[in-house]
Amino acid sequence: MSFVPQTVVLGDADAVADHAAAYIVDKLAAKPDLVLGLPTGETPRGIYARLVEACRTGKLSFARASSFNLDEYRGLPPGHPASYHAYMREMLFRHIDIEPARAHLPNGLAPDAGAEGRRYERLIEEAGGIGLMVLGIGGNGHIGFNEPGSPFDSRTRAVRLTEQTREANRRGFPASETVPEAAITMGIATILEAREILLVATGTAKADALADALKGPETPECPASVLRRHPAVTIVCDTAAAAGIELCAR
Ligand code: F6R
Repeated sequence: MSFVPQTVVLGDADAVADHAAAYIVDKLAAKPDLVLGLPTGETPRGIYARLVEACRTGKLSFARASSFNLDEYRGLPPGHPASYHAYMREMLFRHIDIEPARAHLPNGLAPDAGAEGRRYERLIEEAGGIGLMVLGIGGNGHIGFNEPGSPFDSRTRAVRLTEQTREANRRGFPASETVPEAAITMGIATILEAREILLVATGTAKADALADALKGPETPECPASVLRRHPAVTIVCDTAAAAGIELCAR
């Protein structure tokens, strides 16, 4: 069964961040114990800045909320500045009132990635499942670190990163360090089990991936195309990222 995601196209990345942050604020107001799925990367920075501000001014509280991040690099300790633990701490967690024990990320240092994947899945299940999954999209259509070819029934597991993804993420690392070749990511089936999904995309580098996700074949070669199987997906993007959709629609 296929669904058409609701798509909101806005002028620029700031308008996208405003809209996405307001969307999350509304969801948390309606359900203060919401379980969130969260991405890292460039795209959500503006969203997190707005959530921090809403918390600072008393318009929002995460006191009863929980979160599960999508992914973490293999081999990076939480204290490494390019780790997603560090990103989340700096961008969001240390500025808001979330209970640290309820803000989860996969453990990139786990010696047994299979056991770590099962542990993470169990934690999500014990939290009652993810209510709102916030996603970015890779230039190659990845969601989380589910790279092209990832099975639609995949769960949280270790994956190898493509060269394209490692190159795109190089900016987070000092020049003297290489980007890890592997990560632990929520699986595609894990993502699809969220009750609701909000995908955010900005910039021309995402235009082809977004067009493929919405208009191309539903295939593991474009992992985001699986989102058409989910009945409650909202896409918020800017006109640059929507360029391919508009071309396809003509
Ligand atoms: C990161 C993640 C990735 C990113 C994607 C886009 O936790 O899950 O799927 O959302 O790589 O990254 P940016 O926003 O840096 O373009």
